Amino acid sequence: MQVGLKVWRYNARTGERELAEYEVDAPEEATLLDVLDIVKDKHDGTLAYRKSCRMMICGSCGMRMDGAAVLACKTRMYDVAQAGHVPVISAMGNLPIVKDLVVDMEPFWDKFMSVDPFLRPGYDEPPGGRENLIRQERMNVIHKESLCINCGCCVSECNAMESDPRFLGPQALAKAMRFVGDPRDGHKIERLDALNSEHGIWECTRCYFCNERCPKGVDPRDAIAKLGAESIKEDIDRDMGARHAQWFVNSAKTTGWLRETELVPKTQGIVAAVKQTKFALDLAKHGKVPIPIPPHVAENVEQARALYDIVKTQDRDGALGIVQGEHALGRIEFVQEHGDHGDASDARLPEIEPDVEPPHAKG
Ligand code: SF4
Ligand code: SF4
Ligand code: FES
Repeated sequence: MQVGLKVWRYNARTGERELAEYEVDAPEEATLLDVLDIVKDKHDGTLAYRKSCRMMICGSCGMRMDGAAVLACKTRMYDVAQAGHVPVISAMGNLPIVKDLVVDMEPFWDKFMSVDPFLRPGYDEPPGGRENLIRQERMNVIHKESLCINCGCCVSECNAMESDPRFLGPQALAKAMRFVGDPRDGHKIERLDALNSEHGIWECTRCYFCNERCPKGVDPRDAIAKLGAESIKEDIDRDMGARHAQWFVNSAKTTGWLRETELVPKTQGIVAAVKQTKFALDLAKHGKVPIPIPPHVAENVEQARALYDIVKTQDRDGALGIVQGEHALGRIEFVQEHGDHGDASDARLPEIEPDVEPPHAKG
């Protein structure tokens, strides 16, 4: 088949930028990476891009196709070519370009390292050189986060990083959840505390582009939501974002409405609210602020309260409240059955239940 590509070429040393067009003959099963290989082998050896595994494992070949991040080795070109479309290929966003489609990954790895991406064991070594076994249900809560291949596609599309390059970003935060949610880790509180700092979890704008573009189904935004829920569960709520989220819950539970008039004092404090009095009066003058007293209570407020009670009685506080499909539902059932709250203290299941071989045991 004939495949056309327009590729943004760029040289960081000279600052030169050029949209180069190529048309190649490629087999029908060709991926974008295969087509780039043909361009480089047969048409233009100066084209620069990264690759290694060619099978969606190494995370090297992230780039943009028509403005959205993809893994080149996962992107089949048959339909594109059949439609007669000539896609524009460019380097990933939010990272400095070195040459053509190659970006400098150093800022990415700096953030990755800053979340301490290693297990910090919170248990004693079991005697006799035995392994620490953990039930599969307990690992399911971080199953998706464990699938990350560090490709950077989520970072490329992150709105919050675009406005604040110091924001930790979806990849580093998904990695952080990988260890916050690991029952063997003994540094959960310290980790959550650090992640609640400036440029941490509450800077995410919830645009969900990271979930949309991740080629491995990690769903980094869901991981960030889990970190927020775990923080509130552990009373780490000093950030305005945490207080904002808490007020949403409280307001919905008590009146069935989001009482926006009280949002500012509840999240930013009385002093900040007083400073915004003029703005509030202007809004009120234009009928944008309902009279706060007495608070308006929804007719069917019992339904909102019942939902709140369900979350509480099913023990879905924290990450367990962020449902990620069947794995997470299995985890919730496991918790209901065993009364396991997921802390590190019972990580050594063989010692707690010596005769029980955990199903799908993981070492
Ligand atoms: S949801 Fe948050 S982390 Fe994900 S891309 Fe949007 S701003 Fe970035
Ligand atoms: S979360 Fe997904 S998109 Fe982001 S680095 Fe990991 S695998 Fe790539
Ligand atoms: S070449 Fe390894 S993920 Fe594409």
